[in-house]
Amino acid sequence: RMKLAVLTSGGDSAGMNAVVRAVVKAGILKATKTDKPALSPHQNVRIRDEGFVHNLRFGDGELLRDGTSDHHTGRSLKNRYIVRVGWDDVRGWFGVGGTLCGTARSTAFRTPEGRLTAAYNLIKEGIDALAVCGGDGSLTGADVFRAEWPSLVSKLREQGKITDEQAKTYGYLKIVGLVGSIDNDMSMTDMTIGAPTALHRICEAIDNIESTASSHSRAFVVEVMGRHCGWLALLAGVSSGADFIFIPERPPTTDSWEEEMCKMIQRHRDIGKRKTIVIVAEGALDKDLKPIYAEHIKDVLSEKLGLDTRVTTLGHTQRGGRPCAFDRILPTLQGVEAVDALLEATPDTPSYMIGVQEHKIIRVPLVEAVKMTHSVSEAISNKDFDKAMSLRNPEFRE
Ligand code: F6P
Repeated sequence: RMKLAVLTSGGDSAGMNAVVRAVVKAGILKATKTDKPALSPHQNVRIRDEGFVHNLRFGDGELLRDGTSDHHTGRSLKNRYIVRVGWDDVRGWFGVGGTLCGTARSTAFRTPEGRLTAAYNLIKEGIDALAVCGGDGSLTGADVFRAEWPSLVSKLREQGKITDEQAKTYGYLKIVGLVGSIDNDMSMTDMTIGAPTALHRICEAIDNIESTASSHSRAFVVEVMGRHCGWLALLAGVSSGADFIFIPERPPTTDSWEEEMCKMIQRHRDIGKRKTIVIVAEGALDKDLKPIYAEHIKDVLSEKLGLDTRVTTLGHTQRGGRPCAFDRILPTLQGVEAVDALLEATPDTPSYMIGVQEHKIIRVPLVEAVKMTHSVSEAISNKDFDKAMSLRNPEFRE
């Protein structure tokens, strides 16, 4: 029988709670609705914050509601990181932004010692299946953990921390990745959980900016998130009819981008536009792969075109808040698929990342998705921008 844990990791994104809800509910349903359950009924656990790298005890039978105390006994759950959850504990989680499990960009997990502690904590709690929801960094970490697992188990056995029996039982770790990230920067999936909501937020913000820009006939340089990926900037540009967009995957080809941009904006002004919107991805680069900053664009627009220009950095307003409908549907469908993938896992099957391609929920080998995502950064540093675009989502190719 499988004992399944679900955790969220890395930067939060809308829809992560819906992932946890779906994994918990699908896990319980699949455990209880068969004659011979492959999952232990009511044995789903979720891991809070950096829970599984801490050496903390499992609070037996606790059900977490508000993150601070057990709603049955009122006992404090402070310092309890691995928490057992039931059906009701995740009720209504759909519509809540961020992640109620908490999250961290764990530094401990990046070290071999941290991963050894994580392996120990999982084995100690009898957990043999893990659903990880996070972005590129978290899924890279999950992939390393998966690959290292047998050697971590041997080390724990050598150190006498686990028995021979445990080393045999936990010979391999079932692991599945769900991509929670506003950046939409993971290859081999068309959409990451949280990206649609973030894009929606950006569009709303630009709609608001547009009316004031138009009133004052001003220019606005809007900086959007995305780390090294230009998806949010690109799609926000398309959805808001921006005048110019800067993204890392397609930097300007010459040093004369300032003139090019000014020429285009002047043309728009000449045909009667009273407002100017330039969108810059936070990772935007110039032809020498040096960052292009919003403040610099502002100076160019003010000095060369005499436009009264403001910079708006949308920051974390893009990441927080209630998930849009698609960021409830996608994680729900993917959460169910994740549980199926874990139930079907054998030592010979690869660990999967759950993605979506052409509106179908799919499984792709985690190791390949991680590798392809890293090749985008490599292609950008080699200035092979066509390749970088081709390894990203369909919108870059179209
Ligand atoms: O990866 C998600 C993301 O929001 C990126 O778009 C952004 O670069 C980064 O996280 C910001 O991270 P933090 O919240 O740690 O400042």
